Amino acid sequence: MVDNPFSLQGKTILVTGASSGIGRAISIACSRMGAKVVLTGRNKERLNSIFDSLSGNGCQMLVADLTSDEDVRALVGQLPLLDGVVYCAGIGQRLPCKMVMSQDVDEVMNINFKSNVLLQAALLKAKKIQKSSSIVFIASRAASSPSIGNAIYSASKGALISYARCLALELAPRL
Ligand SMILES: NC(=O)c1ccc[n+]([C@@H]2O[C@H](COP(=O)([O-])OP(=O)(O)OC[C@H]3O[C@@H](n4cnc5c(N)ncnc54)[C@H](OP(=O)(O)O)[C@@H]3O)[C@@H](O)[C@H]2O)c1
Repeated sequence: MVDNPFSLQGKTILVTGASSGIGRAISIACSRMGAKVVLTGRNKERLNSIFDSLSGNGCQMLVADLTSDEDVRALVGQLPLLDGVVYCAGIGQRLPCKMVMSQDVDEVMNINFKSNVLLQAALLKAKKIQKSSSIVFIASRAASSPSIGNAIYSASKGALISYARCLALELAPRL
């Protein structure tokens, strides 16, 4: 019998932003490929309905606002050992550069950039990520493709890409 290269049998994968859109689709696809998926998002009702559509056994859902230190601590404490993380939580924003205020920068950067960086640090400190795990950040072509009104969103994704490159370098010896 030929091994299925797409099988995620026996793998446990955390998906942030799992309550909607791309994160929802990734969660369902990973569960169909055999993974135990841990869904996280803020909206419990939507997480519940996605949880019900997952395949297989052993999936979990954990409600958390990833911009809250307290929620992140609780989330990390409840997580099993992971073989993969998909960082999908994020928000968009359309605002001309002239109109940008401090809270607009914070709102986008906090979830699109800072929350990923801090969750990843917490997972590493808590030894929740197995060696040779896969860590995926959902960035955007907006990082390198400018469009009007998209400056802060684009910058948040550019920052995420730069961070991911440094993280990869730091974690490479663990493979
Ligand atoms: N859609 C696109 O065309 C596109 C293109 C390129 C990149 N992306 C990126 O792909 C990712 C998903 O996009 P999408 O279109 O699928 O978005 P979406 O449907 O709006 O889903 C966003 C997800 O992020 C979660 N989220 C937002 N703020 C959060 C917070 N503070 N704490 C925890 N979770 C939070 C939401 O959870 P709750 O609603 O439960 O809070 C939701 O599950 C984003 O990072 C986005 O930038 C999207």
